[in-house]
Amino acid sequence: MTRPFASRLVAWHAAHGRQDLPWQGTRDAYRVWLSEIMLQQTQVATVIPYYWRFLAEFPDVGALAAAPLERVLEHWSGLGYYRRAHHLHAAARVIVAEHGGSFPRDVEALAALPGIGRSTAAAIAAFSFSVRAAILDGNVKRVLARHRGIEGFPGSARVETALWRVAESLLPANDIETYTQALMDLGATVCTRTRPQCERCPVAGDCVARRDGRTDALPSPRPARRLPQRALRVLLLEHAGNLLLEKRAPVGIWAGLWSLPEMALDDDVAAHCRARFGAQVTVGDALPAIEHGFTHFRLTLHPQRVAVRRWPARAEAPGYAWLLPGDALAAALPAPIRKLLRSIAVPALPSRQPRARTR
Ligand code: ADE
Repeated sequence: MTRPFASRLVAWHAAHGRQDLPWQGTRDAYRVWLSEIMLQQTQVATVIPYYWRFLAEFPDVGALAAAPLERVLEHWSGLGYYRRAHHLHAAARVIVAEHGGSFPRDVEALAALPGIGRSTAAAIAAFSFSVRAAILDGNVKRVLARHRGIEGFPGSARVETALWRVAESLLPANDIETYTQALMDLGATVCTRTRPQCERCPVAGDCVARRDGRTDALPSPRPARRLPQRALRVLLLEHAGNLLLEKRAPVGIWAGLWSLPEMALDDDVAAHCRARFGAQVTVGDALPAIEHGFTHFRLTLHPQRVAVRRWPARAEAPGYAWLLPGDALAAALPAPIRKLLRSIAVPALPSRQPRARTR
């Protein structure tokens, strides 16, 4: 029978885990808290000198609470994510004002402090007070999603709930500090996002992702955002071998470019051309739709060939131009329209040729 997950991790940590990190030799919740906050978005090697300088200036929670915010921000300068420093300072003041200067020992009270989420609260409680609580930071999510073969984006509520349940079910009866540090270390050094070193992993033997060859696929990536869809008909109005282009408004999508006249998909093409241009047309083929992605929506263009039988004699409206297809391609066109015009050979229409003038 395989040994429990936690036992294997603890044994692995004795031989291969990180042992000499500055915050490992302490049970002082202030130091543990400071290190966990600094490590939230920053690598260990970067954090270490900041950690020592910060402690030299603010040796305990009282000193931090009494300091002006500007001094705290100065000591944070270069670590980035300054919200962490604002929260640190605010939390120190709450600990002094509401907890008599001592860190609360239970996870819920820690998680109620500014800047401390459920996982960080559990890490502080485990490292400082040996509270048996589960952590679930980004690295641990990856380890557990792979080991249990949990599909789906770990940031989604459904998957996160499943991962918390697994994290809690794996907790050892004792030595929570070593187990918690081992889990962090495994995620940081062995079960890495790319090229995990499974041959060095103490829990590879029953890892579902390894068994199924899915370490690359798990955890599942964030799903692509579903963008709103819009669809339009674009008109290839052909007349005497020319194509009608329309200049777009100076603001908005494709501002100021030459494009094809557009219309709503539901409207009748011939009626639209009559109402808008006073033209008599013969509706031709619909061409394959073109997909185009904008940052905030997806656009499907439905090109529609339309042969103009009669065009009103009145002067062209400004903003429109009849161009030979070759000349149209020389205009400033939106990319999908250019692609469309390139893809079609606009046939010369059986239209009236200009009559040769005779003297
Ligand atoms: N990242 C977050 N917490 C950590 C810790 N205690 N040791 C190493 N890396 C960490």
